[in-house]
Amino acid sequence: MEKQEIRTFGRRHGKKLSPRKARLVQTVLPKITPNESENADILEIGFGAGEHVRELASGNPNKIIIGAEPFENGVAALLSRICDENDNILPEYKNIRIWPDDVRLILNQNKFSFSEIWVLHPDPWPKARHEKRRLLNPIFLNLLSENMAQSGKIIIGTDHWEYYDWILSGIQDTKLVVCDFEHETIQTRYQKKNMAHTSETKYMILCKK
Ligand SMILES: C[S@@+](CC[C@H](N)C(=O)[O-])C[C@H]1O[C@@H](n2cnc3c(N)ncnc32)[C@H](O)[C@@H]1O
Repeated sequence: MEKQEIRTFGRRHGKKLSPRKARLVQTVLPKITPNESENADILEIGFGAGEHVRELASGNPNKIIIGAEPFENGVAALLSRICDENDNILPEYKNIRIWPDDVRLILNQNKFSFSEIWVLHPDPWPKARHEKRRLLNPIFLNLLSENMAQSGKIIIGTDHWEYYDWILSGIQDTKLVVCDFEHETIQTRYQKKNMAHTSETKYMILCKK
């Protein structure tokens, strides 16, 4: 990531971690940080508390899932749900890797060939003066396309319809096209909050041109 890149996320730290979560961040996280010698199949960007990363992992036991999230409390929440009381990773979550930082850093440092990239409820940055903080701009979408298999897909869902239209209008300046507008609703913490007060989450599925 270039030094001048604009920050697209809010807080990195929330309330103080419980002793267990702080220990998991210290001891388990380093063991499951993505490793250059291992390929990965699926990426979820901004996983929040990680409920969808867990679904992806248990539903795709032969695939490696990378979840990227710079908010430490979100990372700790996911760690606490994938580990048992002895801090061992549960068998159905052994294919999860966690990148506890801005996803652009790992995408600029490595070359991936993801079959799926998920972005559920990206921060909408609704104020006009914050629009530059929106992650899903054409430059970032092209970075995703460079890290995707030819048949790969990017699945984007947001309840913020104005952001949705903004993403759509930027796609013409990318190497991507919309290949579907339909997806079943995926329940995440942010989806349940429905802070945009809209009637549904809208989806778009992007493919390479
Ligand atoms: C509105 S929350 C949605 C969380 C979750 N996907 C959900 O639906 O509940 C957006 C998340 O994206 C993360 N985020 C923002 N910019 C990011 C970036 N550059 N790399 C990785 N995650 C990012 C934020 O930290 C935040 O947790």
